[in-house]
Amino acid sequence: MKTTLYKTTEDVAPVADLLRQGEVVAIPTETVYGLAANALDGGAVLKIFAAKNRPADNPLIVHISEWEQIIPLVSHIPPKAKALADAFWPGPLTMVLPRSEIIPDEVTAGGDTVAIRLPAHPVARAVISACGLPLAAPSANRSGSPSPTTAAHVMDDMNGLIPAVLDGGECAVGVESTVISLVGETPRLLRPGGITPEQLQSVIGAIEIDPSITANVHLDKVSSPGMKYKHYAPKAKVTLLHSSRQAFIRFMNEQAEEHSVALCFAEEAKEIHKQTLCIGHENDHNEIAHNLFALLRQADEMGLCRIYAHCPEKTGMGLAVYNRLIRAAAFDERELEA
Ligand code: TXA
Ligand code: MG
Repeated sequence: MKTTLYKTTEDVAPVADLLRQGEVVAIPTETVYGLAANALDGGAVLKIFAAKNRPADNPLIVHISEWEQIIPLVSHIPPKAKALADAFWPGPLTMVLPRSEIIPDEVTAGGDTVAIRLPAHPVARAVISACGLPLAAPSANRSGSPSPTTAAHVMDDMNGLIPAVLDGGECAVGVESTVISLVGETPRLLRPGGITPEQLQSVIGAIEIDPSITANVHLDKVSSPGMKYKHYAPKAKVTLLHSSRQAFIRFMNEQAEEHSVALCFAEEAKEIHKQTLCIGHENDHNEIAHNLFALLRQADEMGLCRIYAHCPEKTGMGLAVYNRLIRAAAFDERELEA
């Protein structure tokens, strides 16, 4: 299959046509690129799973462009869901809600809930409006590789597998949306992302944090199936280090293997006498999130074998970064003495 790379917002119309015809296309969102298809057409949704090589038991997020579009998709809207939508939509927040009958099983992996998001990216919203359909869309990477934050990343993974990629520039957020379930009594954070736990709590009060976010949970039944897969894994072996700046620099200079590479903060790069990949300034979690996936892809292109990553603080967007990094490290994390 030939993959056409559409470059401007005028190209929304042909992309919307493909979606109406039941095809799969990659579109930009403010978090990462998505691999979109008509969420109401089970056959179209199956093509997403094939292109991504995604396990069929991992459900998809349904994207809408206006609040009213949610009404036929869910059976009930709890007051806290409305409050979160008022505060954070359009934006990088996904809500898990009780599904309605019109959602095909292919989207929900047979479950009785559906994940809904109203993205902020103007091109994503223009595509959804132009085709007049809710769009099921996972991240547009092949299963197991880092989520794509540029159209070039999508082409690297999807060229020849889908008919079109719409280029909307670099994704601003860089990590995926926050996923929160509003089905149980207390809202439950299933995946940290572009909206922080602190922001959620400021609107709806107490939330539970799913244990799979920070731990290697080998449960048969995790609340967010995506969390049980080894994700975002670069080819290099990655170890995540928790330490002070001085201890990290000392470790890299004195103990790390000769050809290992530091995934480090801007403030420490100059003092490390080994190859470095700079992820951003230590206290700028937005910058770090924005750079993370592109750097993991770059590490693969450079053919790196051994990476030590300096972990940011786990507050704010730092929790989303930590959640991706421990998966990239296959849960190999260590504390260095000060
Ligand atoms: O930012 C994002 O969310 C991007 C863009 C394209 O919108 N999409 C994305 O989709 O990251 P995906 O499929 O890569 O991740 C969706 C996550 C997975 O962990 C999945 O298991 C979870 O959401 N999920 C989807 N539907 C669910 C449901 N009904 N219940 C629980 N978890 C669900
Ligand atoms: Mg994904």
